[in-house]
Amino acid sequence: MIPGRARVARADASVPAAVENRRCAASLTRRGRRYSDTGLNKCPTMTDVAGNQTSGSGAEHGRITRRELLIDTVVGLTFATPILAAVFAAVRYIIPPARVITGAAERVQVAAVADVAAGQSKDFIYRDAPYALIRIDNEFRAFSKVCTHLGCIVDWKGNERIFRCPCHNAVFDASGSVVSGPAPRPLPHLKVEVAGGKVYVSA
Ligand code: FES
Repeated sequence: MIPGRARVARADASVPAAVENRRCAASLTRRGRRYSDTGLNKCPTMTDVAGNQTSGSGAEHGRITRRELLIDTVVGLTFATPILAAVFAAVRYIIPPARVITGAAERVQVAAVADVAAGQSKDFIYRDAPYALIRIDNEFRAFSKVCTHLGCIVDWKGNERIFRCPCHNAVFDASGSVVSGPAPRPLPHLKVEVAGGKVYVSA
């Protein structure tokens, strides 16, 4: 037997099933039902041109059922949720929400004089926002650590006596003024008092 002729004969044999499937799908559509609706996939078995069964009676004919979609969604959420939570936490750490200090000045102790050597710094939280207490010789100063460009957390570089932002390289001097980079404003500062060997800040 010539191979090519056998193939043509099988292809011809599959035509009635394909036609019937199209009629069936069109009928379901006319009745306002989707071909893949549960319980309505009763079209005849489909065959390819080689006569192989591609789906059985009631199969979805390559469409995703609601049950499969639900399972895929649950599995996807199971894996995506912790990843999204980690990404959100990382973003919140790098770019904390902007905060505006309002209300009466609140005087709090943030360090003992002996805690901070000249040129060094000590980080602290004031009204839920990050600050750095720096010591320039015998003078203490306190600045917000939130960059005025896009809100990343700046680092104090004691040997250079500057604040540097790791995000876009803004540089602030020991007075909080912008030295270089894209930051539009100086770093906000707090009032600092030293009394009884302790350092206090207030807004
Ligand atoms: S956020 Fe600091 S330089 Fe851009």
